[in-house]
Amino acid sequence: MRFDILTVLPGLLESPFAHSILQRAQKKGIAEIHVHNLRNYSSLKHKNVDDYPYGGGSGMVMMIEPFAACIDKLKSERNYDEVIFMTPDGVTLNQGIANELSIKGNIIILCGHYKGIDQRVRDLFVTRELSIGDYVLSGGELPAAVLVDAIVRLIPGVLSDETSALSDSFQGELLDAPVYTRPADWNGHRVPDILLSGNTPEIEKWRFEQSLERTRQRRPDLLGE
Ligand code: ADE
Repeated sequence: MRFDILTVLPGLLESPFAHSILQRAQKKGIAEIHVHNLRNYSSLKHKNVDDYPYGGGSGMVMMIEPFAACIDKLKSERNYDEVIFMTPDGVTLNQGIANELSIKGNIIILCGHYKGIDQRVRDLFVTRELSIGDYVLSGGELPAAVLVDAIVRLIPGVLSDETSALSDSFQGELLDAPVYTRPADWNGHRVPDILLSGNTPEIEKWRFEQSLERTRQRRPDLLGE
């Protein structure tokens, strides 16, 4: 699976993909992540990518030309299944959308900045607009990193133990049960005895009950309550 991320701040995306699971997925050749600096696609003398909004108002608006030039070049090289624009007024990302996107081939992700991007980019190129939550960030780079992470870890072969993605919170209807590791007793705070019992069926039952309780407490909406 290939991601092409279009941004004016490529430096912001240097680190998120260079560690842990995302790095491993790239080394294994399962995911390719390419970051493109939109300034390289500006035809203007000073490599500007934004301009004042028509009709007035505060803030600059990202111009269509650099987006169009970069998207056209990419599309001339291969097919893309989606062109996704990260924006706070998009559909809120959830596990279902991540699952759906994890079986796609190639995806272009557009990161906005300033006051927004020329509406024609959205009308002409974008297939899907996604938000990562009801808050406004300075740009779409961190949301793009969140989206790529949520997708890549679902691609078969990325996680060493494939079942671990399946048992994630939100993958089923329930949140995860609490987990513990050594020491069994830390300053008198003990790990629940059941987890030390070796009784697998009882441990599974306990985990299910804990998941259910945690979901009831924190996200009753997931249970339709
Ligand atoms: N750009 C700025 N804020 C955002 C958000 N919450 N989700 C997606 N893109 C954004």
